Amino acid sequence: MKSAKDLVIPFAWEERRPILLDRFFYIPACYDHQVEKVCFFKEDLPVVVEYCSGNGQWIVQRALQEKGVNWIAVEKKFERARKIWLRVQRENLSNVCVVCGEGLSFTRFYAPLMAEGFVNFPDPWPKRRHAGHRIVCAEFLEAVSGVMLAGGLLTCVTDDPVFAGQMRDEFTKCPVWRLQFHVNEWPDYGRSFFKDLWLEKGKTIHYLRYERGGA
Ligand SMILES: C[S@@+](CC[C@H](N)C(=O)[O-])C[C@H]1O[C@@H](n2cnc3c(N)ncnc32)[C@H](O)[C@@H]1O
Repeated sequence: MKSAKDLVIPFAWEERRPILLDRFFYIPACYDHQVEKVCFFKEDLPVVVEYCSGNGQWIVQRALQEKGVNWIAVEKKFERARKIWLRVQRENLSNVCVVCGEGLSFTRFYAPLMAEGFVNFPDPWPKRRHAGHRIVCAEFLEAVSGVMLAGGLLTCVTDDPVFAGQMRDEFTKCPVWRLQFHVNEWPDYGRSFFKDLWLEKGKTIHYLRYERGGA
């Protein structure tokens, strides 16, 4: 059984570069990215991406249920991404790849064509001066639309009603995305650490699903 010491980045920070290691794709921060085609999977299956995967509970659950899909977990914090990778190893899942990197950089430079995307409980960054840290912004939605198949779906989930409204505003800036629904219940959506936490605290969950229009 693999352990955390089996996943180390094999070069010093000064020599950093993107690297694919045993279904773990490392994207360095502070790097001059170039568009690169990465072979994430051996099998040619529809690709579904989860951004902000945290400890990976949601995506591993979904990947166990849906083996006919190639899943990509995108998480910027190394320790968390490694935790996802360990879960994937434990479950022996060949249909999951973990990306350790920032979501917008991944999408712009390395992402394959995707059939569906999820952004599960992204950090809301409530202060106005921190708004630039929010992943769901027009720039990100534009980048995702560039790698999403026509008719593909993008779902964003949050417990924060103000943030849900801000996300809707960002989507309106990219008319290629059409709102399919905004609901507060989605019984078989799957569980995650933050979803359980917010439900325990009695919060309402907002699920926003958009469809990418044609062309
Ligand atoms: C509030 S946690 C949610 C984790 C998980 N989705 C859940 O529901 O339990 C947000 C996660 O998103 C990651 N994150 C935030 N911004 C990101 C970005 N721009 N790209 C990739 N990961 C990001 C954080 O490191 C953190 O692990």
